[in-house]
Amino acid sequence: MKLAHSLQNIQPSYIREILRAASAPGVISLAGGLPDSTQFPLSLMKPSLQALAEQPSLFQYGNTQGFEPLLDYFGNAYQLTNQQKALVCTGSQQALDLIARAFINPGDAIIMEAPSYLGALQVFGLAQANILSVGQNKDGPDLNQLETLFVQQDIKMFYGVPDFHNPTGVCWSLWVRKEVARLCQQYNVTLVEDIPYRELRFAGTALPIASSFCPEHALVLRSYSKIATPGIRIGLVYGNQEWIDALIKVKQGSDLHTSVPMQAVLLHLLQHNEFNLHLQNLRVLYGRRYQKLMEQLKLKLPAQCTANPVDGGMFIWLTLTELADCDILAVAQAALKNGVAVVPSCVFYQPKEKQVSALRLNFTHAREEELVLAVDRLKAVVPH
Ligand SMILES: Cc1ncc(COP(=O)(O)O)c(C=O)c1O
Repeated sequence: MKLAHSLQNIQPSYIREILRAASAPGVISLAGGLPDSTQFPLSLMKPSLQALAEQPSLFQYGNTQGFEPLLDYFGNAYQLTNQQKALVCTGSQQALDLIARAFINPGDAIIMEAPSYLGALQVFGLAQANILSVGQNKDGPDLNQLETLFVQQDIKMFYGVPDFHNPTGVCWSLWVRKEVARLCQQYNVTLVEDIPYRELRFAGTALPIASSFCPEHALVLRSYSKIATPGIRIGLVYGNQEWIDALIKVKQGSDLHTSVPMQAVLLHLLQHNEFNLHLQNLRVLYGRRYQKLMEQLKLKLPAQCTANPVDGGMFIWLTLTELADCDILAVAQAALKNGVAVVPSCVFYQPKEKQVSALRLNFTHAREEELVLAVDRLKAVVPH
């Protein structure tokens, strides 16, 4: 059977190949965006998981919008206004897919930061959006480029990851957040604010979400994959009621609803009086691993390799640009052969886009002693 046109332009995912190879025995993986599974709060979840067996009603078909007690919890936790509504999704990845299907016609112009989250590139690529990109500075997207595109073209949405961006780890400054919101309001563009790493801040002070400065022009995507477990597949999207109603229609045709038993378990976890302690422990552990990886990179790699410091999230972006003739895909492949899996920057750009030669390094999955070994292995293959 012939593939749909929308699929014909989607490249086979190199990252999937890397992740498969990364799980081979002896390979240290800094490739995935994986939380540490030894830290999953399963002991806090255990009572509600066990109680499921006594609650057949949770196993019946449920509401598309979500499990009501969980929606009430989110309404309070995120202080949703009367104009806003929330929809529980099967991971925040599904929210991206629903947004693309509800709002994007082939050829519609949308903007993303470059480099960008691969899963969003895939979703918007499948929707056949005309994906335009803006570069990133240390404090967020390039505002001049953003405004120029807003002026020149009819832009439907701007997709951004303001808190510890995937893959660069960049965190938008307060000023950038306000400016992006102002521009979205002025040019009537929807800000799609994706913040799965927001709770993983181990240094500095949390900033307000960008959407808080333009709530009527924004959709916010949250994820419980990084702070609870990815396997429960629960995410959230909220914003303007009419937009959420449109997303609910698409979700009905997609999977009817997200697993109700898992929503009940998540609710119990979020309300558990030890959940905050779990989060604090996670931040301390990931902060320590980040420090270790950063220290090792500075100590062992050539000075031309620059690692962007971060205050949270899961990734260090190691730039190799100044190294002459650097074929970043070849570096990643050589690293894999030498027992360390990393992701080359080329996968985070659209084809033909101006690219920085860099590697994305995850610091949340491997233990400190593995991080030390991983940098030794990386050092052996990075061009000097
Ligand atoms: C920026 C970004 N958005 C969305 C997702 C999807 O997360 P979820 O597990 O909630 O579907 C990820 C996953 O790594 C991500 O990095």
